[in-house]
Amino acid sequence: MTATSEKSAGPLVELDDVSKFYGNIKALEHVSLEVHAGEITCVLGDNGAGKSTLIKIIAGLHRHDAGRFLIDGEETTLANPRDALDRGIATVYQDLAVVPLMPVWRNFFLGSEPTTGVGPFKRLDVRKMRETTRTELLRMGIDLRDVDQPIGTLSGGERQCVAIARAVYFGAKVLVLDEPTAALGVKQSGVVLKYVAAARDAGLGVVLITHNPHHAHLVGDRFVLLKRGAMSGSHTKDDVTLDELTRQMAGGSELEELSHELERTPAPTLPGTSAATEEGS
Ligand SMILES: Nc1ncnc2c1ncn2[C@@H]1O[C@H](COP(=O)(O)OP(=O)(O)OP(=O)(O)O)[C@@H](O)[C@H]1O
Ligand SMILES: [Mg+2]
Repeated sequence: MTATSEKSAGPLVELDDVSKFYGNIKALEHVSLEVHAGEITCVLGDNGAGKSTLIKIIAGLHRHDAGRFLIDGEETTLANPRDALDRGIATVYQDLAVVPLMPVWRNFFLGSEPTTGVGPFKRLDVRKMRETTRTELLRMGIDLRDVDQPIGTLSGGERQCVAIARAVYFGAKVLVLDEPTAALGVKQSGVVLKYVAAARDAGLGVVLITHNPHHAHLVGDRFVLLKRGAMSGSHTKDDVTLDELTRQMAGGSELEELSHELERTPAPTLPGTSAATEEGS
């Protein structure tokens, strides 16, 4: 109970019956969700379900066409991503905006570099950036051998972790992550989920986009399922099991149908297979 107790326990961010159209295409229809301090809200859905559209609204990139978008209980329309950042909403996109050849510390401070000295003697405070990056990463439990190495040499998972640590350091209240584990293997996904949980424990409200119900169920407190732009389910941790979440994601009956279609029919014997050889001998 850190950030939660400062304010009324209301959501940091809330979407209430939000819809979004691209021309005639309904990308989102009547979607509601809540993001609370110290909690992870997972948004699950298949390709084209509207997940990215949803986070683009929260990140200030797109505006909703209907419904209400509330920050700290106040109805809002964000003008742009800078506006969202100023309100404490940090978004980590899947294709992280990093400069691969620049050192980790340089990327950590990209766009918000501290300076030292005044007037003509003003220069980048490199020492501060190096030290802060090292200590902030350590605080999140990330032990990089060298913060001077180009960020491009880090693994995908490590890069996600640096981006999360950066958002925490710059004082984000809400952290939005677009499929941070989509391109990662089992082990690296686990590492990233650990830092997502660390951000939650630091009191941030987290929005985790994923199409992996296992990842969602491991860390999530709330779950919103999207299907072709509409909400097909909304749960809290105690009213849904992993099996149920997986079933809803896969669309139970669709999965059964698929399993029928994929059922093996006895294959005709091909020449060269063991059955054919035996016959020949
Ligand atoms: N700028 C756009 N103009 C027109 N249609 C769009 C635009 N962006 C998205 N769409 C459409 O809106 C729907 C939802 O797209 P969105 O990118 O939000 O899905 P998603 O859940 O993020 O999918 P994925 O898992 O593939 O990333 C899709 O049908 C998509 O084609
Ligand atoms: Mg997407």
